[in-house]
Amino acid sequence: MSTESPFKSARLPALPLFVAPDAGTCCGTRAAVRGDIEETWVGRDGSHLLLRPVCPADIARSRSFLRGLSYGARYFRFGRGDFQFAEAELQGLCDPDPHECTEFIVLAQAGGEAVEIAAARYCIEPDGMSCEFALVVTDAWQGSGVGRRLMKALIRHARSRGLKTMYGQILATNTRMLEFAQGLGFGVEASAHGPAVRLVRTALSSATLEA
Ligand SMILES: CC(C)(COP(=O)(O)OP(=O)(O)OC[C@H]1O[C@@H](n2cnc3c(N)ncnc32)[C@H](O)[C@@H]1OP(=O)(O)O)[C@@H](O)C(=O)NCCC(=O)NCCS
Repeated sequence: MSTESPFKSARLPALPLFVAPDAGTCCGTRAAVRGDIEETWVGRDGSHLLLRPVCPADIARSRSFLRGLSYGARYFRFGRGDFQFAEAELQGLCDPDPHECTEFIVLAQAGGEAVEIAAARYCIEPDGMSCEFALVVTDAWQGSGVGRRLMKALIRHARSRGLKTMYGQILATNTRMLEFAQGLGFGVEASAHGPAVRLVRTALSSATLEA
């Protein structure tokens, strides 16, 4: 059952090291258009992490990931702490039209299973030049550098397809995200949604991509 969110940012309706079965093997026919960003690294607890585009086979793990988010993480990501996706919205999230939205997820290998721990997406505006991003990292993994990796992947991907500007709508109380965005080169502006929401925006040519 879906609970309408007043804050549908990013157009929400929303390696060999890595050996968990099926973790890196989906993406299907749209993969070529989605782009080929894929990264693996070892997380702070020694677990193997994989960043790759989302795909339709990710529905079950995406459902678990979203259900597992705390009230606070949901609130900052979706504008409502009790936000839930309808099944059709979840399917749409896991199978975005690559000409419109691109989403990357991060999977952690846990006991032979690939568990989703973070997701980030951008959606292209009708002007074809700018895009809106949104992301969320599961609570237990926040502060581990996962969000930064995801943002860099989004920026790199958007830049490589010729987009000029990236922006995000951030609740004004989300100081952590505002600081995080500024650290990546985004400026903070007023939004059309009043003082409760701030707009962070960057020219993709100037966004920070260094380590
Ligand atoms: C905001 C968010 C995406 C950041 O992702 P993250 O994986 O926790 O961030 P990282 O570990 O990559 O850290 C990046 C920066 O965030 C800031 N940060 C991270 N953990 C922090 C903490 N506990 N307190 C304050 N700032 C923190 C720091 O500036 C950090 O930079 P540093 O590496 O130089 O210290 C994550 O906290 C989150 O999912 N929040 C809930 C959803 C949300 O707010 N989404 C944004 C709206 S679209």
